[in-house]
Amino acid sequence: MNIKRICCIGAGYVGGPTMTVIAQKCPHIKLTVVDINESRIAAWNSKDLNKLPIFEPGLDKIVEEVRGRNLFFSTDIDEAINEADMIFISVNTPTKNYGKGKGMASDLKYIELCARQIAKVSRQNKIVVEKSTLPVRTASAIKSILDNTGNGVHFQILSNPEFLAEGTAIQDLLKPDRVLIGGDASTKEGEVAIQALIDVYLNWVPKEQILTTNVWSSELSKLTANAFLAQRVSSINAMSEICEKTGADIREVSKAIGMDSRIGSKFLNASVGFGGSCFQKDILNLVYIAKSYGLNEVADYWEQVVIMNEHQKKRFSDNIVSTLYNTVSGKKITFLGWAFKKNTNDTRESAAIRVADDLLNERAEISVYDPKVTEERIYEDLNYLGTRSSIENKRLLTINKDPYRACKNSHAIAILTEWDEFKNYDWKNIYKNMEKPAFVFDGRGLLNKEELEIIGFIYYNIGTGN
Ligand code: NAD
Ligand code: UGA
Repeated sequence: MNIKRICCIGAGYVGGPTMTVIAQKCPHIKLTVVDINESRIAAWNSKDLNKLPIFEPGLDKIVEEVRGRNLFFSTDIDEAINEADMIFISVNTPTKNYGKGKGMASDLKYIELCARQIAKVSRQNKIVVEKSTLPVRTASAIKSILDNTGNGVHFQILSNPEFLAEGTAIQDLLKPDRVLIGGDASTKEGEVAIQALIDVYLNWVPKEQILTTNVWSSELSKLTANAFLAQRVSSINAMSEICEKTGADIREVSKAIGMDSRIGSKFLNASVGFGGSCFQKDILNLVYIAKSYGLNEVADYWEQVVIMNEHQKKRFSDNIVSTLYNTVSGKKITFLGWAFKKNTNDTRESAAIRVADDLLNERAEISVYDPKVTEERIYEDLNYLGTRSSIENKRLLTINKDPYRACKNSHAIAILTEWDEFKNYDWKNIYKNMEKPAFVFDGRGLLNKEELEIIGFIYYNIGTGN
């Protein structure tokens, strides 16, 4: 089967970049990315490429090349569904904040709405691809909705989880470690659907890197991959606390263990805690699934990864308070970075939010500089917590477009995101304009301890005893 038209529902961090890369590599396919969020679609269609809703290195160039050629962004969801041979569902699957499974299970209401809309609108057979991260066995719920509410047309359901990381999304999409496709190879129609999706990827991904499994393995592999990655971060962060007590240095420990080829050197950077929209939500989802099968030990094992991460964020803010003579009330503390990692404007679950909230509770005055995150986003993140009024948040936290001004007259600087530009600042100048003693709390192990100490800073790093 030759795919000619693809529709992707959800123009977010996954749908947008993924379809952009498919469009570049498959000029013979027309792709339409649709979303209910009109302003997001308008931003994707913006003439000014700086106004795309997502910042990802390299994304703007490819959008410029393919948008209007074979890639389109639209709010006309029905039309895009109807004309497509293949539909990717790439909507958000956040943690449920109500009812059964509140705070743990995935909220599948957006997925179900998509399935119902696909069923209602479709007049010819279609392949439906789960791109969103979903609890294992969601495909059977989607199939049931499609088969029972549709117009008698046939649907094949595939699972094709996305493994891109933000900040490196384009490179990850252009050269994926693997593409995973889960489908029902036991039927002729299932086999045809799997092959159709393989053929799309074969336009640029070597066939050895395209892996096919049954649907449940594919769904569960995605949750497993994120759980393992997050577990590594929590494991190294747990060790960082032992380092601080014992005089060992976490960077040396990471290097030493990472040289063991069985362990590997990636993803061993101790930090203020992992953020991002997925690690926590996917592990909590896994915990919920385990509990729902009565696998309590399995659930407890994975939940500890999230507990450790919460602890890491809390102890970072606690250390700032205790080091600043047990009070930060009325003191200016500058945050360099708000995004959950460098090279993205995404702030979902960023450690900065939690650390800011803790310090504001201690009546600190916070000044934030981030090269890519907007002012509105930062206030929305804080207001969402509901800890204090939005007026109060605005009074206590200010946002500065100039890092030097953000740091001026502050008692301490906290590095929350590992943006490269922070390394090249004129730290002597920053020091000169700060209150003394001037502290740096480096939540990312980004700066050079010796250099800062020579300037006069008192420098704290995660995982290094002082
Ligand atoms: P996102 O919130 O950035 O985008 C989702 C989009 O879907 C939103 O713009 C929303 O308006 C839209 N949407 C929701 N319901 C809709 C509907 N019924 N019709 C049309 N549009 C609808 O989310 P994301 O970060 O792109 O994540 C999407 C999925 O991919 C999630 O399941 C996530 O776990 C998974 N994932 C994310 C990443 C990542 O790096 N962000 C990586 C791999 C997998
Ligand atoms: C992660 C996975 O890496 C992707 O494979 C996956 O597709 C994606 O989640 C998803 O499903 O959403 P992402 O969250 O974008 O990608 O970014 P990561 O590079 O994984 O970083 C996550 C968090 O862990 C960041 O806050 C980062 O700073 C932190 N981290 C990462 C560390 O603290 N130390 C490390 O060594 C690595």
